[in-house]
Amino acid sequence: MKVLVIGGGAREHALCRSLSLDPDVTALHCAPGNAGIAEVAQLHPVDAMDGAAVARLATELEARLVVVGPEAPLVAGVADAVRDAGIACFGPSAEAARLEGSKAFAKDVMAAASVPTGRSYVCTTPEEIDKALDAFGAPFVVKDDGLAAGKGVVVTDDIAAAREHALACGRVVIEEFLDGPEVSLFAVTDGRTVLPLRPAQDFKRALDGDEGPNTGGMGAYSPLPWADPKLVDEVLETVLQPTVDELRRRGTPFAGLLYAGLAITGRGVRVIEFNARFGDPETQVVLARLRTPLAGVLLAAAEERLADQPSLVWRDDAAVTVVVASHNYPGTPRTGDPIEGLADVVAQDAPHAYVLHAGTRLADDGSTVLSAGGRVLSVTATGKDLGQARERAYAAVDRIRLDGSQHRTDIAREAAEA
Ligand code: AMP
Ligand code: GLY
Repeated sequence: MKVLVIGGGAREHALCRSLSLDPDVTALHCAPGNAGIAEVAQLHPVDAMDGAAVARLATELEARLVVVGPEAPLVAGVADAVRDAGIACFGPSAEAARLEGSKAFAKDVMAAASVPTGRSYVCTTPEEIDKALDAFGAPFVVKDDGLAAGKGVVVTDDIAAAREHALACGRVVIEEFLDGPEVSLFAVTDGRTVLPLRPAQDFKRALDGDEGPNTGGMGAYSPLPWADPKLVDEVLETVLQPTVDELRRRGTPFAGLLYAGLAITGRGVRVIEFNARFGDPETQVVLARLRTPLAGVLLAAAEERLADQPSLVWRDDAAVTVVVASHNYPGTPRTGDPIEGLADVVAQDAPHAYVLHAGTRLADDGSTVLSAGGRVLSVTATGKDLGQARERAYAAVDRIRLDGSQHRTDIAREAAEA
């Protein structure tokens, strides 16, 4: 089958890599893609946010399946435009993607479906904001209602900072602080049947030891040796299935990837957030462990045939991914610097470790790869356990040279030592 992937980050590179290894995929296209994706897919300079243009491209390419990676096009209705053109699309409708696009909407769905989550207030006025901050006390959790590219959430002990962020948001969700380790659990769903993937953990803070500012994610690993083996079944029953059922009941079924960001608190599992797409960088480690060819699973979800899908098959391997970011990320990143050592990783670390590109582009010479964003690339590695996957990932990271770049050195360290 011919597949078109929309997006151009490391998540889309991971999706394209898995799809390129699927024997059922006869042609792979990506728009807009990046310098790394160009090695496995044909790139098209189409704006991911332009639903009509994406639908036209999919029609021209005779794509059997379109996979929309990032949240912004999903919230903007790009999956609807593709389906309206009669082409199967993996990714929820704009209505269903509000689960990620509006934190207040997500809270409403969770309340209706009795899904466990932190208590919260939706506030629009300074008075409501002050009342909510007082009600919860420190640490304060203040979330912009809308999409904010990973920058909408402030968790702080400083009430002045909490208030300032809340006032800047307009509509804001103020929430109870949830203590405990975080888990990302993805599920593929066709709006009715829910197929959970393997859980992963993401590292959100910029610096080692979970210090520094929040980022889009600096690394991830899977499996989680410390997690309760019943966690996935429990979350399927208490979170994923009720949420999917509630959205179907409302007449806006969610078909695509449902991402539950969870806190494992002393009082049980709580949903921190939902996303309407594969997470980045967790996708890199989850897909590294999936043995079942990916295209058939995504197509079955897009065509409401997931009930007939055989159980997913997983490798025994562990996987670790380490993000290499530009100087000054998550502030305004420095870009345009050459990235060296990519060929050394291919020569010395493949197939156990490989580079997935995020913010990269080819220089005018057609061969030099330049940094072009905050998160530049992620190195993903597999191994018999987390320790080996970690060693392989960092050995490959050490071969990559990018002036001023930064990465965390403690991804999966605690879990590997446990
Ligand atoms: P989100 O964009 O909702 O994933 O939030 C970003 C990060 O903020 C999460 O991964 C958590 O580390 C943190 N966070 C969000 N909500 C809470 C909460 N209620 N309690 C504690 N930390 C939170
Ligand atoms: N890794 C966090 C996210 O994708 O939102």
